[in-house]
Amino acid sequence: MRLATRMTTIGTESAFEVSARARALEAEGHDIIHLQIGEPDFDTPAHVREAAKRALDAGATHYAPFPGIPDLREAIAEDATARKGFDVTPERVFVTVGGKGVMLYAILGLVDPGDEVIVPDPGYPIYESLVRFVGASPVPVPIRMANDFRLDVDELASLITPRTRMIVINSPANPTGGVLTRADLERIAALAEEHDLTVLADEIYGRILYDGTEHVSIASLPGMAERTIVLDGFSKTFAMTGWRLGYAIVPPALVKTYGQLIINTISCAPTFAQVGAVEALRGPQDDVDAMVVEFRARRDLVVDGLNAIPGVRCLRPSGAFYAFPDVSGTGLSGAELAERLLHEAGVCVLAGTAFGGVGTRHIRISYANSRENLARALERIGGFVGEAAAAGAGTTR
Ligand SMILES: Cc1ncc(COP(=O)(O)O)c(C=O)c1O
Repeated sequence: MRLATRMTTIGTESAFEVSARARALEAEGHDIIHLQIGEPDFDTPAHVREAAKRALDAGATHYAPFPGIPDLREAIAEDATARKGFDVTPERVFVTVGGKGVMLYAILGLVDPGDEVIVPDPGYPIYESLVRFVGASPVPVPIRMANDFRLDVDELASLITPRTRMIVINSPANPTGGVLTRADLERIAALAEEHDLTVLADEIYGRILYDGTEHVSIASLPGMAERTIVLDGFSKTFAMTGWRLGYAIVPPALVKTYGQLIINTISCAPTFAQVGAVEALRGPQDDVDAMVVEFRARRDLVVDGLNAIPGVRCLRPSGAFYAFPDVSGTGLSGAELAERLLHEAGVCVLAGTAFGGVGTRHIRISYANSRENLARALERIGGFVGEAAAAGAGTTR
């Protein structure tokens, strides 16, 4: 069968493929600890599940209005006004199938073939993939450990050309856990204003922050709500990955565009799931708070454990649930170490290069797993690295 030419440009998200390989090894009888998955290991809070079950029985089995049910758009607008610090009205809110939908519509709606979009590297791989898919060019802005996994705004400025249409930022970030400061965001906002660019601000980890780190939405800075698409959702904050619910907060100029794109693709997000999401936002928040407390304890366990392994250096991230250690001191690249850990130590992690070319020295570890499993995984990684060093894994690169 002849595929459309554009299919040569689409990328992937390795987490899904690597998970399939790990499951195949498990089926052969191997014991694998899964640290590759970017989803909370907790179940969705019970009161949210109950609300969706009640909604099903009450008949919420029909199409919803394409932008989302009014209750949910209102709840999102209230929550975002309070947490993100700018005035969000329900008309600007679109409920999508996952946060991924927000990305797709931003890029379909705004980016033409030949345009350039600045994307973080390392960064969530779907930004780059979708940009290529519409015939545009992703321009990676390096995110370095030496800069606390924040982008260097001068470097960002140097990458802007007359063809740049959009800047994608993600804070707190996947895969590094890095958080942009208010000062970083102010400088990025100034660049967006100066060059008339749209910002896609992926804030899906905005409530998973530690040690009092502040969440700043770039849309809250003067003038920025008019040129920012905020991406957020329920997957990470409320442990609702399988519900497939995300949302966009868009400038008035994009309200019609988002509506058209939703009508042409999904019609609407699942109705009963949206009723559950209202409960997630308006109901008790104790489960979210407890998850963040637990993630913080796991972060410390993982970061301390990794730093105790010779050849591994790991920053203590302020957000999300990922560690992104530099493993070059082991004599192996991130990709080599990830491959060998899976086959020789039964620990599944991702190579840093799954997120762009800059992460060659790194692996990504998701600590959304129990402390017990994390401790076992650290022991296995330490044991493997020790043996590899004794066998002379190679020279440090
Ligand atoms: C940075 C980032 N944005 C968006 C998403 C997509 O989330 P969703 O499950 O809501 O589509 C993910 C999922 O891993 C992510 O890491």
